Amino acid sequence: MSTDVSGIPEAAETIRYRHADDVWSAAVDLLDQTLLPETLSRLICETPGQLHDAIRRLVVRGAPAIGIAAAYGVTLTRVDSRADAAAVRSRYLETIDYLATSRPTAVNLFWALDRMKAVVQSVEDAELEMLPNRLADEAIRIHEDDRAMCRSIGINGAPLLQGCQNVLTHCNAGGLATSTLGTALAPIYHLHENGTTLHVYADETRPLLQGARLTAWELSQAGIPVTVCTDSMAGGLMKAGNVDAVIVGADRIAANGDAANKIGTYPLAILAHYHHIPFYVAAPTNTFDMALASGDLIPIEQRDPAEVTQPGGPSGRTTVPASAKVTNPAFDVTPAELITAIITERGVIQTPNQANVAEVLNA
Ligand code: MRU
Repeated sequence: MSTDVSGIPEAAETIRYRHADDVWSAAVDLLDQTLLPETLSRLICETPGQLHDAIRRLVVRGAPAIGIAAAYGVTLTRVDSRADAAAVRSRYLETIDYLATSRPTAVNLFWALDRMKAVVQSVEDAELEMLPNRLADEAIRIHEDDRAMCRSIGINGAPLLQGCQNVLTHCNAGGLATSTLGTALAPIYHLHENGTTLHVYADETRPLLQGARLTAWELSQAGIPVTVCTDSMAGGLMKAGNVDAVIVGADRIAANGDAANKIGTYPLAILAHYHHIPFYVAAPTNTFDMALASGDLIPIEQRDPAEVTQPGGPSGRTTVPASAKVTNPAFDVTPAELITAIITERGVIQTPNQANVAEVLNA
């Protein structure tokens, strides 16, 4: 089975788009990440509703991947051939608004949908029949841009990890969360490709185990040694001197550098700070939301408490008494002051704060 540099087999490519010559028979073909690592199975979405459900259920997940999938999802809109120009446009805009309701935290979703919206709004009435193809082209470009961004993040982040032996990561910010190489895992893949292989501790990442199920799987596919630890083990590993750096992804970064990422990232940053271990966030610049002055303004998704009470899924056993309340925020916000550097495709933002973020974002 052939693989890309991330080691993910072609059969496990995160997102594929199928439209061949006929955009009206388009489909978004997703690796079903809810079934990993046991089963490599794909889910074909042929309607915006199916794609919305796939994002909500985390069939496709990770900030950049959600944006790419949603962009393709816009092309699944079906339009009545008798509709006039205004009706055609509003049909696509409805799909865009609808897909925007799938998940609230990752800003890449809204960034990608805004790009699709600009295509809908810029097409002239006389060229309206070109719109489906223009939208497909834009979604493909968003996908390709992400590949390039991941590669640049890998190159830019590699020097920061060069002297490390053991790095710890949380959740999955690898190829499964993006087009290919990921964000937090991209520097690790880049180093591996160039002859330096690090050992990675993958936080299990409660409650949905993206670290254990996904990060451990994709690193193993690439031949990178990985040890899964429960989230609560990170402090002990750091105290014992077993962690040289922490590197994570992000779902939304405010203008001052505060970064939202998978729940459990913030306590990890505090632990790293206490143990004088560098804490890196890796994210493309489309993960920045410059309209938000600080991380307090980032909307945090609350998910179904059943994800906590039934860790094995709906058919698994219930581990919490019915009388107990359960909270299940999917993300937390790490203050910029706990972040050593943010690695982007445009460069590294050392000591993130409003001025340092603006310098790289506006470059
Ligand atoms: O709920 P998920 O699995 O979509 O959460 C994903 C994360 O928190 C990732 O770390 C983040 O999206 C960065 S992905 C490059």
